[in-house]
Amino acid sequence: MDKRLSVNYGGLELRSPIILASSGITKAYENAAKADHYGAGAVVLKTKFEEEMMAHSPTPRFAVIRRGKGDYSSTTNLSYEQGYEKSIEDYCEEIRMCKKDLEISVIASIGCSTKTCWAQWAKMVEAAGADAIEMNLSCPHSDYVMNETGRMNSFIAEMVPVVKQAVHIPVFTKMTPQLENPIYTAQVMEQGGSDGICAFSRCLGLDIDIEKQAPVLHGGYGGHGGPWSIHYALRWISEMYTKTRLPISGCGGVVEGDDVIKYILAGSTAVQVCFLVYAYGYSVVETLNTHLLSYMDRHGYQSTQEFRGIVTGSRIKSLQEVNREKTLIATVNPDVCVGCRRCTDICIFEGIRYDTEKKKAFINSQCDGCGLCPSFCPRGAISMIHR
Ligand SMILES: Cc1cc2nc3c(=O)[nH]c(=O)nc-3n(C[C@H](O)[C@H](O)[C@H](O)COP(=O)(O)O)c2cc1C
Ligand code: SF4
Ligand code: SF4
Repeated sequence: MDKRLSVNYGGLELRSPIILASSGITKAYENAAKADHYGAGAVVLKTKFEEEMMAHSPTPRFAVIRRGKGDYSSTTNLSYEQGYEKSIEDYCEEIRMCKKDLEISVIASIGCSTKTCWAQWAKMVEAAGADAIEMNLSCPHSDYVMNETGRMNSFIAEMVPVVKQAVHIPVFTKMTPQLENPIYTAQVMEQGGSDGICAFSRCLGLDIDIEKQAPVLHGGYGGHGGPWSIHYALRWISEMYTKTRLPISGCGGVVEGDDVIKYILAGSTAVQVCFLVYAYGYSVVETLNTHLLSYMDRHGYQSTQEFRGIVTGSRIKSLQEVNREKTLIATVNPDVCVGCRRCTDICIFEGIRYDTEKKKAFINSQCDGCGLCPSFCPRGAISMIHR
């Protein structure tokens, strides 16, 4: 493994910043072994919940929803998967097996409602050899996320110190995106003694079968995510990076190597990946590591620390700093335009017209420079130039 990929995430030495996020892909020793084989830095094992009901998942529990037209379409992963299915003793046995055989770091994930359980299970997973604990404070199916009880921050403030006091290994805290102010919640985690933040888990969503007039899947709300979810996470992480001292593992929407780089530029020390592995298998980890190294080669970086957090702070303009002058205008390359008229339908300024004789689109003086039409031209014939 290339040493340039190694990172220290909240006291944990990882050989790669890529962590496999808690879910079915990390549910047992066999899964961790695959992550180990392909070079992940760590696995966060599937969450073991205190509530018995959370150990049982319905079938089916996955729906990959593709919607929208052509170049205006999206993919959403809707799922309803509950926690680790066996006992806490079995969970500890998985940890022991991983630690005995594998090089990969093992982070136990627990989700409890009572202080007694948080403390007891934290001690048990530590004794079994877990390298760290990730407190699942974020499950979209948990009572405090699902029912909007409004007690998330007080719950975090109360429970994080309990786990911190119970163990000596690093304690990470996983955050739901369903928060009024993730920065405030990050600060509550920091004050509670968290050693690192995983931002984020997924939101609770709903899709509807319009003929049955009922929710799809198992008949209720489900966790939902997809390639699009990275943008919310990048935005908040870039701000968290400057407003807390905690290391961050960015999570949500990683579908290609560039996404890992974006997470690091926004301030993440580690990057968690989940659904990509469900969709393509464990070998994607190797691809992500290779892609990251080639970016580092191109820029001459010897460690990810050298570019971590570059796109934060003053690199991100405030509302006041944004340049509001109209400096750009669109232009059509007539040699590339095939006259399909995709662009003329969408300009709300009437800035792009169609020449019926030449059978080409052309820009007129009403173009506002909004920058929309280049994204929809199927031939790449439109670009933005200075006025
Ligand atoms: C099927 C499935 C099961 C999950 N189970 C857990 C879990 O047990 N504990 C947890 O903390 N997060 C769980 N998650 C959330 C993931 O760890 C991760 O935060 C989320 O999927 C966002 O990453 P992604 O966009 O790469 O999938 C689960 C996600 C999926 C898709
Ligand atoms: S969308 Fe592109 S190819 Fe089609 S008419 Fe407009 S500029 Fe030409
Ligand atoms: S850049 Fe915006 S305003 Fe100008 S032609 Fe394209 S869509 Fe219209």
